[in-house]
Amino acid sequence: MKRLVHAVVGCGRVAPNHVDGFSALPDVEVRWACDRDLTTAESLARAHGLPRVTTDVHEVLADPEVDSVSVATGHATHHGLVAAALEAGKHVLVEKPLALSAEDGAALTSLAEHAGRVLSVVSQHRYDRVVTAIRDWIGAGLLGSLVSGVVSLQCGRDDAYYAGSDWRGTYAGEGGSALVNQGYHALDVTHWLTGGLAVVGAAAGHTAPRGGMETEDTLAALLRGPQGALVTYQVTVASSITWRTRVEIIGTGGSVLFDLDHPGTLHVAEGNEELRAAAAELASAEVEQAPPGIGYYGISHRRQIADFAAAVRDGHKMIADDRAGLETLILLQDIYRAARHEVAAPVLSALRS
Ligand SMILES: NC(=O)c1ccc[n+]([C@@H]2O[C@H](COP(=O)([O-])OP(=O)(O)OC[C@H]3O[C@@H](n4cnc5c(N)ncnc54)[C@H](O)[C@@H]3O)[C@@H](O)[C@H]2O)c1
Repeated sequence: MKRLVHAVVGCGRVAPNHVDGFSALPDVEVRWACDRDLTTAESLARAHGLPRVTTDVHEVLADPEVDSVSVATGHATHHGLVAAALEAGKHVLVEKPLALSAEDGAALTSLAEHAGRVLSVVSQHRYDRVVTAIRDWIGAGLLGSLVSGVVSLQCGRDDAYYAGSDWRGTYAGEGGSALVNQGYHALDVTHWLTGGLAVVGAAAGHTAPRGGMETEDTLAALLRGPQGALVTYQVTVASSITWRTRVEIIGTGGSVLFDLDHPGTLHVAEGNEELRAAAAELASAEVEQAPPGIGYYGISHRRQIADFAAAVRDGHKMIADDRAGLETLILLQDIYRAARHEVAAPVLSALRS
């Protein structure tokens, strides 16, 4: 097996999940910790025994032995760093979202294709056991035709989370907040499970803004699946609860209710006998240990990273490839666009006065 040399660019909150995932693989060396802040890079390198540290991404990209790079920086920097890495001939695993704008995202997918390099956007929950099982059940018709869905994420981010960051809570740095950051995975997974969602309407709220944030802390959208299923989606970062997702998918033959928090719990699977038997089999599977770090990121960075490393070696199509990341980016941009053009129901509100 060809040995891979990997580098992590951006050594903040999510970086340990990248080091953990690559370190868990045979024949992979995680060589570089790169952060524009030297102390942050040194601290990641020290904690995980990484041999080289730099504040300059060009030093990483100039290392001819580096095969692949994780980009785990703030959203606005993704486009420039991913483009530079692809142009230097590296394979890239970029944290979500692919880029701030769909246009920049599309330019990156073209660049990856042209360069013949793997570009994958982190969508780790697509690899959760509960999610892959439900996708199989939907594909096998166990839920019948999908008619409805209810998706929510409530989480709590405090003043320090926004006030202590130069990119979170700003349109220029984060591109939005509740939807593009915390709400990304619930949207991405539902989009994948339903076969592709389109936007019917949306509204964004600035309900209890923390730490000077200018972006939305709460957002609700109405979405439609390819066969007409209507899905309501809501997210807030202003809850008192640290993190709780709920995804309910309702079909003519069965319904499932699950969450994306570690270990990805299936709460309910109701309907036909075959669905209940499949759910019982899933429930009997062993619970995997979460990696060190923030628990609600889940365990599936490891699985996506294993898929990425295999794709670098054999070129197979990943579950979470750059096209998947671009599709989700387009959907969330459409939701923001709908929220900006939100209209009140003029006829009924006129009757009130
Ligand atoms: N998949 C998930 O579950 C998950 C979880 C958390 C964060 N994320 C994503 O990961 C990314 C990073 O989030 P975070 O919370 O770790 O952010 P963070 O602010 O904690 O860390 C980002 C780091 O990148 C560094 N950086 C910025 N520009 C750089 C550059 N040009 N070169 C080198 N270093 C640079 C910063 O100094 C900072 O240390 C975001 O895209 C976020 O949405 C994903």
